[in-house]
Amino acid sequence: MPAPYNELLGATIQHLENLKARGVRHVAVAPETLRALAQSPISNFQFPIAKTPAPPVAKTETPVFAPAKKLTAPVPSEAASNPLPQSAIRNPQSAMEKIAAFAALRERALACVKCPHLASSRKHVVFGVGSIDAQLMFVGEAPGADEDEQGEPFVGKAGQLLTKIIQATGLTRADVYIANILKCRPDTPGQSAGNRKPTPEEMQTCIPFLHEQIDLIRPKVIVALGATAVEGLLGKTVGITKLRGNWQTYRGTPLMPTYHPAYLLRNQAMSEKRRVWEDMLAAMEKLAMPISEKQRNYFLKA
Ligand code: URA
Repeated sequence: MPAPYNELLGATIQHLENLKARGVRHVAVAPETLRALAQSPISNFQFPIAKTPAPPVAKTETPVFAPAKKLTAPVPSEAASNPLPQSAIRNPQSAMEKIAAFAALRERALACVKCPHLASSRKHVVFGVGSIDAQLMFVGEAPGADEDEQGEPFVGKAGQLLTKIIQATGLTRADVYIANILKCRPDTPGQSAGNRKPTPEEMQTCIPFLHEQIDLIRPKVIVALGATAVEGLLGKTVGITKLRGNWQTYRGTPLMPTYHPAYLLRNQAMSEKRRVWEDMLAAMEKLAMPISEKQRNYFLKA
């Protein structure tokens, strides 16, 4: 068996074991990924062989969670230490190549020590969670204490609210992909509690990982949670109150800015919940997801 195959298999099994340990019982996988997994690893294993890139696939509006089309990811910025051939990283030709490229990216992020102060204070690098074939992707700011502890984004109080928002759309966390601008918890030396906003330097250092995640996943819609997510992805420092609810574009992908769930925890007003929900309805419409009357009317006064 080729060594990279064994590495990939080990990483996949470890990831699934971690999910299982956290109580996850179902994992969303595209049909083509399942087909690839069901075939002989030797005959199907493609990523060590460089192939001619396929022509880019035009983006069309497809129903949510239709199988992902072939990828045309732009050149990643930090591929030097990646064990995969550059052609496979830039332009994965198959579901297996996509899995391999994502696993390799994850490995690089987990080993990152570019911010020595964060590398020494963190418990876990919080890479991201969900389906790599997701059509809907959420981007937050940075891990908090709970996320640092568990190695998974949005698992604390704000995360539980995000999970409820996702579920209100009819989806689960396993159907979407969730990541942050920063993969490490911003350190708070001398403080026993509390969070701090990532610095511009930390954001600049870490953002290539997120760019590569998005390039590989190729979601149809990105929901940016809060001002820091918008700033990291779009470079805009306009207030989130002005931006939310207005479609933006991230490298050609529709991006909906909305309030961070932590803001909704601080401000319990129904009007603010409704605003976030309206942003989610807009995202659902963009994805051609079915929307019931009940869903349309959430948080509206009777
Ligand atoms: N807030 C964020 O922005 N991200 C997390 O993962 C958790 C809380």
